[in-house]
Amino acid sequence: MRKKNDLSWTGLKSKADEVSNTTISAEAPSNIAIVKYWGKHGMQLPNNPSVSMTLRHAVTKTHLSLDPSQEHGIRFRFEGKEQPSFLPKLEQFIDRAAEYLPLLKSFHLDISSENTFPHSSGIASSASSMSALSMAILGALSNLKPETEEFKRQHSFLSRLGSGSACRSAFGGWAAWGTTSDTFAVALPEVHAEFQSMKDAILIVSAGEKSVSSTAGHQLMNTHVYAETRYAQARKRTDELVQIIKNGDIEAFVDLCEKEALELHALMMMSDPYFILIKPNTLKIIDTIREFRRETGIPLAFTCDAGPNVHLMYREQDAQKVENFIEDELKGYCENRRVIWDACGDGPVLKFGE
Ligand code: PMV
Repeated sequence: MRKKNDLSWTGLKSKADEVSNTTISAEAPSNIAIVKYWGKHGMQLPNNPSVSMTLRHAVTKTHLSLDPSQEHGIRFRFEGKEQPSFLPKLEQFIDRAAEYLPLLKSFHLDISSENTFPHSSGIASSASSMSALSMAILGALSNLKPETEEFKRQHSFLSRLGSGSACRSAFGGWAAWGTTSDTFAVALPEVHAEFQSMKDAILIVSAGEKSVSSTAGHQLMNTHVYAETRYAQARKRTDELVQIIKNGDIEAFVDLCEKEALELHALMMMSDPYFILIKPNTLKIIDTIREFRRETGIPLAFTCDAGPNVHLMYREQDAQKVENFIEDELKGYCENRRVIWDACGDGPVLKFGE
């Protein structure tokens, strides 16, 4: 498929006095990748395509006030508290975004945000937070309606400048990045009903800080001996997964989903220097899931992102049996028995004047 790398940036306001919605809020979800993005180049461009499911409950809410009467600057609060340590990353993001939205520098920006998922639960918040902030910014500076394809693409593009995987959080349902374009993601147009209502139970094995950041992990792919093999594999799996999601082939989904998760962690273990993010309880959970599947025939799949926690993906029709199994056999492997019950979601929302 031919990739388009540029957006036309239509619909933008050109003068500060056209910005009538000076207070705006956005709510954006996190997402879980099934085919993983691992390795990047240039300005957050992926070395391979990826496919993810947008979550419903793991959401960041961001409130943005734009003040044209003050000099450009940023004030940031997270869950009600000033967070100066977040400012360098935010300033870098605003500088990158202002290359496409120069008007952004005509305002003082007051940003406050909160997550619906528990703080330091081990759930990566960069995807939901960068998607929420990008949506609020674009909502203020664009004349386009948020439901339009062009708005969504611009939103995805801006989110990517903050965090690569965030670009897939501009859509409800399922999204692919690096297929149509490397600079923005797109929603998968055909999603079988069983995948539209898919559940994701996030088993929190450890809520602590990761020993190696994903930025460092991406970097190690630049010298990885298996890099080219990995990228080819991810391209092949992306094509396969798009078909699986369209046709509702749950058995093929389970197989691909688990191989991708293990391959991501195998890449980490074969990086130079190597690193290991999974924990003994991650492996115990994986073993127990496989045994349950052998015994019951219920198609449930595990995946992990760059950390020790396990996402358990299953169909709505199997929810009761799977959730009983989690309660009885898996919660004991979780830190403080913590599980976040999530599902496929509808994507981000914008609200004016709040
Ligand atoms: O968006 P980043 O730079 O935090 O990288 C995310 C990488 C994975 O979560 C491991 C995979 C993915 O595609 O989300």
